[in-house]
Amino acid sequence: MSRLTVFPGHPLSGEVSLPGDKSISHRAALLAAMAEGESRVTHFLDSGVTRALLNALQQLGVDWQLDGETLTVRGQAWRSPDQSLNCGNSATTLRLLAGALAARNTAAVLDGSDGLRRRPMGRILQPLRAMGVAIESPDGEHAPLTISQRAAGQQLRALTHPLTLASAQVKSCVLLAGLAAEGPVTVIEPHRSRDHSERLLSALGVKIESQPVADGWAVTIHPHPTDLPAFDLTIPGDTSAAAFWVVAASITPGSRITLAGVGLNPGRTGLLTALQEMGGRIEIIPRGEQGGEAVGDVIVSSADLRGIEIHGERVTAMIDEFPVFAVAAAFATGVTHVREAGELRHKESDRIRALCRLLNALGAKVEEHPDGFTIDGQAGLRGGAVVSAEGDHRIAMAAAIAGLAADQPVTVQGAEMMAESYPKFAETLLRLGGRIRMEEENSG
Ligand code: S3P
Repeated sequence: MSRLTVFPGHPLSGEVSLPGDKSISHRAALLAAMAEGESRVTHFLDSGVTRALLNALQQLGVDWQLDGETLTVRGQAWRSPDQSLNCGNSATTLRLLAGALAARNTAAVLDGSDGLRRRPMGRILQPLRAMGVAIESPDGEHAPLTISQRAAGQQLRALTHPLTLASAQVKSCVLLAGLAAEGPVTVIEPHRSRDHSERLLSALGVKIESQPVADGWAVTIHPHPTDLPAFDLTIPGDTSAAAFWVVAASITPGSRITLAGVGLNPGRTGLLTALQEMGGRIEIIPRGEQGGEAVGDVIVSSADLRGIEIHGERVTAMIDEFPVFAVAAAFATGVTHVREAGELRHKESDRIRALCRLLNALGAKVEEHPDGFTIDGQAGLRGGAVVSAEGDHRIAMAAAIAGLAADQPVTVQGAEMMAESYPKFAETLLRLGGRIRMEEENSG
């Protein structure tokens, strides 16, 4: 275990070079593995969760090479692995792979860490089974999931699948399986989630339609019986990694930072909008498109924030940002209220509980609700505590950001979790002018 201590009182300045987007890195690696020929992905995120996917692809017989941030993948026929595919802590790996394995009719067992085994999987089992995929779970809801091979010539069925909760992972899983269906497959979400899969699939020649419908937003994929073509792609900066620095600069007095090349997919920009509404000094300079995604530079200066209310589709557009958003809310004046966000209980940790525990330990006035939380901002946090990362990379990084502006330092125990999505987090904090101390602890 490692401990990261962040000391307050040091303004942040300079330019951040962001890691490649986690969601797009997953999709790029997976689609390259399903393509025919050699694909090259630049600015790929090399981190715990993307390594889980790459290792799984290797077990499926896919050749890849990662040279710094450049990933080269030689797509080929997949072979059934001898051992289960270890998806580590990555639900994106597991859920997207399930759809891809179904499309490629490749038998495999999908498994992962104890944390991943607690994440809900009924949401992919049900639509995949409705399409005719033979997929089993020991209790009908959790990993390990066993996918069996279908008889030769047995195609997957067309499907229209309404989701009660918007989820890009579930949508992507079903769309990927739809590549090999005998007719169109439609996913209807109550509102739009991030559409990275749709953008990439459509750039590769797959017919995809996306439109508003009476009960939300529908995405339809048409079967694509041939292999995808190989591609070259440059991945934008990770919007969710940028979110930590947006909050960091906003709450740390005297700060001004520039985030270059941030992905601005509308399904991801909820935190930027929320902080702007809270009075954040955030300038967004559009820089066109990269890899089929909007990108831009974001300049953030410290500001006095006000509390706000978040619910409904705004929750989806910032689904990964609530730990650090809660830190911003603790530094705002007035009340921040988040509701209709019960899905946060099913992330890498129960994030409603974990962020309430974190903020409580740091001296905030916070109240937990079944589907959200309320923070009575007192324009500050006491700090001076050792807090647990709760086995969750984003709780760990949010706690570190809190330390920048608290009255006393904050120590995060289990800081190694940050490397799941952002291995250079501490290094970046240091480079921006933050004062930190890193300690390794013997677990014995
Ligand atoms: C992701 C979608 C989100 C998000 C996760 C990555 C993706 O999950 O929380 O970190 O890459 O599709 P849900 O779609 O299940 O909300």
